[in-house]
Amino acid sequence: MEKIVSLCKRRGFIFQSSEIYGGLNGFWDYGPLGAELKRNIRDLWWRAYTQLRDDVVGLDASIIMHPKVWEASGHTTTFNDPMVDCMVCKKRFRLDQVEPQTGTVCAFVGAVSSQYFEQLVALIQQAPNRPAESVPFALEAIKRLAGAEAELASAQLLEQLGVAPDNADAVAILNGIRACLARTPPVSVLVPPKRHIDHARHKAQRFYQPWVGESCWPILGQAQPVTEDRTHCPEPDCGGQLTPPRMFNLMLKTFVGPVESEENVAYLRPETAQAIFAQFKNVLEVSRQKIPFGIAQIGKAFRNEINPRNFTFRSREFEQMEIEFFIRPDEVVQKVAGSVATYSPGMDLSRPQPNWGWELWHRHWVEQRVQWYESIGLGRDRLDLHWQTPDELAHYAKACVDIQYRFPFGLQELEGIAARGDFDLTQHQKFSGKSMEYFDEEARVRYIPHVIEPSAGVDRLALALLCEAYCEDEVPDEQGRPERRVVLRFHPRVAPIKVGVFPLLKNRPELVAKARAVRDLLRPHMTVFYDESGAIGRRYRRQDEIGTPFGVTIDFDTVGQDPRLRDTVTLRDRDTCRQERVKIDELVRLLLERIR
Ligand code: GAP
Repeated sequence: MEKIVSLCKRRGFIFQSSEIYGGLNGFWDYGPLGAELKRNIRDLWWRAYTQLRDDVVGLDASIIMHPKVWEASGHTTTFNDPMVDCMVCKKRFRLDQVEPQTGTVCAFVGAVSSQYFEQLVALIQQAPNRPAESVPFALEAIKRLAGAEAELASAQLLEQLGVAPDNADAVAILNGIRACLARTPPVSVLVPPKRHIDHARHKAQRFYQPWVGESCWPILGQAQPVTEDRTHCPEPDCGGQLTPPRMFNLMLKTFVGPVESEENVAYLRPETAQAIFAQFKNVLEVSRQKIPFGIAQIGKAFRNEINPRNFTFRSREFEQMEIEFFIRPDEVVQKVAGSVATYSPGMDLSRPQPNWGWELWHRHWVEQRVQWYESIGLGRDRLDLHWQTPDELAHYAKACVDIQYRFPFGLQELEGIAARGDFDLTQHQKFSGKSMEYFDEEARVRYIPHVIEPSAGVDRLALALLCEAYCEDEVPDEQGRPERRVVLRFHPRVAPIKVGVFPLLKNRPELVAKARAVRDLLRPHMTVFYDESGAIGRRYRRQDEIGTPFGVTIDFDTVGQDPRLRDTVTLRDRDTCRQERVKIDELVRLLLERIR
């Protein structure tokens, strides 16, 4: 993953947001190539659904909507994650993302400043009944002083040591120790197997520093072996105790208008879907669509993620591509078609039928989306379909499939395709008081449509495409010697730059003039990068590294006198490095065939 992150920065795919100020966790900027990559993703998705299908229309809604939208959708009350903080390293986690750990939990009852600790050791060493080992004895004694019967423990300790109970110096030391213990809260540290218990002591020392100063003595109450512990920090070098979970709403708040009051609170949308539901009636009226039909939207969404991580995978600002596809309830399908078709393996899911209920529509969309991923270079064998189990499903969902991709950091969700029933429209009808019903002329009934929702993330997909494309291989250099190269094997459809155009030498005006003419010929049809500096091999490598699938080189034959070669160029394929000689007149057609 580090190599991909570094390539993204080096070649201008993705930068940290506000990098000059140290960055802002969970926010990313896309550089020139990243912007092209994302644009290609969006355009291909938009074209596939709103232009190449008759039954999906587009929407571009505002990011901030009436707060009631989020009450109706349930986001105000239920869009919460359980958040925990590590008491030692202060990192924040989502509790459900903390992996189980094994080790020994060392529980500390508090800490004592070294000043008091040393005074106690000296007191023990000077006492008439001094024990042989003063430091362990002191630690044991302090543990008892931390208990509920601290006063009694003080008296017993003085007696045990043979020190008079009214010895003012001794009493002051014990009072000082008790005061330290009273203000230092208990904490525990999980020590992984094979690690020394001193690890826990160092961590506890760090934890207690603010109360008792640089050098202090954490007092170990007990050490207990545990398995499957999720109450400790998962950071490999920490293991500190986690705070009890607190529920944390993920919506980002703002205020609309000049007054920052409760009535003016608004939210940056956490998903694009709700605008589609809220505009369902308007779009229905103007688009002359009939159920079944869908509304598609691409746009920014914001979530105050507790723990943004894995580069852009979990961000606080990201983009979604969502379709709400409205269908008849099964009872209405039954009424109109006489039966509701059931799924059988191998059936044709590409052509919708009047007897399809939610189950087949849902499978249709899963299949459509897998085919779309295939069309941009994420093969079926690179994806995994996770059918959510009943306990994973949202209470209103009938089924949900997560399309997952194996990122370098594990198998993770790219897209969710949910059968959401009539939950959302019913909620908006209830909260707005406006009817969300549809009159079905064929069935002669009125109903609230049900919904199938394919919901994908643009940024996650861009990251998956970068991970899938990244490759290191060896190709022959100009002298035919093997040379290591980094190459992004993007599918030509998503590649940010489609073709590089190179004059063989930059100091030959006839080559440069022709190359510029070829660049201008291609430009109206595709993204072109013109490069005349450096050895031709190095120019190829630069384009390989950013995933440009084709390279066109203008050489001496292009401008020579041989009529068979004049006005021909070499067309190089990024993946095979093979070159073919093609006529300039043919270039646009040949390239368009390969990049579309
Ligand atoms: N309307 C349904 C919905 O929003 P979701 O599973 O929460 O469902 C859908 O989000 C998709 O949005 C995810 O599959 C993912 O691709 C993308 N997504 C969600 N949260 C994200 C985040 N914090 N960072 C990047 N992408 C995210």
